[in-house]
Amino acid sequence: MQQYNFYKSAELGSLVLKNRFIKAATFEGMYDDGIPNKKLVDFHSSMAKGGVGLTTISYASVSANGRTFKDQMYVNPESLVGLRRVVEAVHEVGGKISIQLTHCGYFSKNTRNGVPIAPSRVLNEYGMLSGLPFSKAMNESDLEETKKDFVWSAQQLKRIGFDTLELHLGHGYLLSQFLSPKTNKRKDQYGGSLENRARYPLEVFRAIKDAVGTNFPVLVKLNLEDGFKKGFSVEDCIEVCKKLESANCDGVVLSGGFTSKSPFFLLRGDVPLKGMVKNGSNWAEKLTMALFGPAIIKKYNYSSNFFLELAKRVRQQVKLPLVYLGGVDSRQGIEEIQKAGFDFVAIGRALIHDPNFLQKIENGEISKSGCTHCNQCIVEMDRGGVRCTL
Ligand SMILES: Cc1cc2nc3c(=O)[nH]c(=O)nc-3n(C[C@H](O)[C@H](O)[C@H](O)COP(=O)(O)O)c2cc1C
Repeated sequence: MQQYNFYKSAELGSLVLKNRFIKAATFEGMYDDGIPNKKLVDFHSSMAKGGVGLTTISYASVSANGRTFKDQMYVNPESLVGLRRVVEAVHEVGGKISIQLTHCGYFSKNTRNGVPIAPSRVLNEYGMLSGLPFSKAMNESDLEETKKDFVWSAQQLKRIGFDTLELHLGHGYLLSQFLSPKTNKRKDQYGGSLENRARYPLEVFRAIKDAVGTNFPVLVKLNLEDGFKKGFSVEDCIEVCKKLESANCDGVVLSGGFTSKSPFFLLRGDVPLKGMVKNGSNWAEKLTMALFGPAIIKKYNYSSNFFLELAKRVRQQVKLPLVYLGGVDSRQGIEEIQKAGFDFVAIGRALIHDPNFLQKIENGEISKSGCTHCNQCIVEMDRGGVRCTL
């Protein structure tokens, strides 16, 4: 198995990166009415200055109805103007930049768009208290329209200078809802067997790849597992990686969890319940969170490289480039990932805590991040912008 020096330059498809470190997509909340603001520019340019080979803007919805809440950003002529400013700022300091393309599916409390669309009619735990208790199963025209939205968005993002894209097939968003047997109850060619559940996400991937051309890398973020019984499993993940490999995918970012059902599976550490109650969008949501939060939201203990054992199982079975993500917080942890044969490593919280984390690791100033996985950063993203409160 090939082992790479993560600190040296690397190719991601046709793209040359200065090293193998990627800033993982972490929702920034740096938008004014859905338009990227100056904070977003500064956030990503500080990541590039801090030394990551590639930084990733999170959650770019491909359409207005792909937003989980109403003022979130979606790809449109106005937001593209703001996104271009972020791209230019990152390029000016010698960095490269990606953006996560996604659609929320049923995970919506965006009342502006009416009933949310999803593979099947399912209970919408997230939007229930905002008056959107169920999703509607996507019909043929919904499938076609949504695929077109993904393709159009990808083309626009390439046009304004992004170096690559990350298509979100994980964390319980629309394409992950197709992959998961828990939320995909369809009886047609898009439901049932893994072959069928993977069909629509792969159609979307191929359509994007055809539209942006072979010289433009497209990454996929995929769950190792959903984090609950009868969900998408690591065996499913291996099979989907093989299909993505055949479809010329440039790399898969491995993660896990389902935002509406097992949100802390992908984060681990403390559940910042107080802040989450305060951020509730109406009194019913605040009350429910305060009363039932501890019962509804499962806590998972944090450990460094918490997905490594699962991710190794995928590494052993597939050849396409794999990006390790989850609990990367130390020099020793990075070495373990190198040894296990991963191609790249993505980091979230250690870089929110300190954008210079990697420089400090490389020059020996620190050997471990000061992030305590208190997860207050996820509360802050709904309060003016993601930041570390330590
Ligand atoms: C504040 C915050 C926001 C996040 N938002 C997103 C997101 O929008 N999309 C996504 O795919 N993952 C998101 N994540 C998950 C991260 O990409 C990553 O999977 C997780 O933080 C584990 O990596 P880490 O241990 O390096 O932080 C978010 C994580 C945090 C902490």
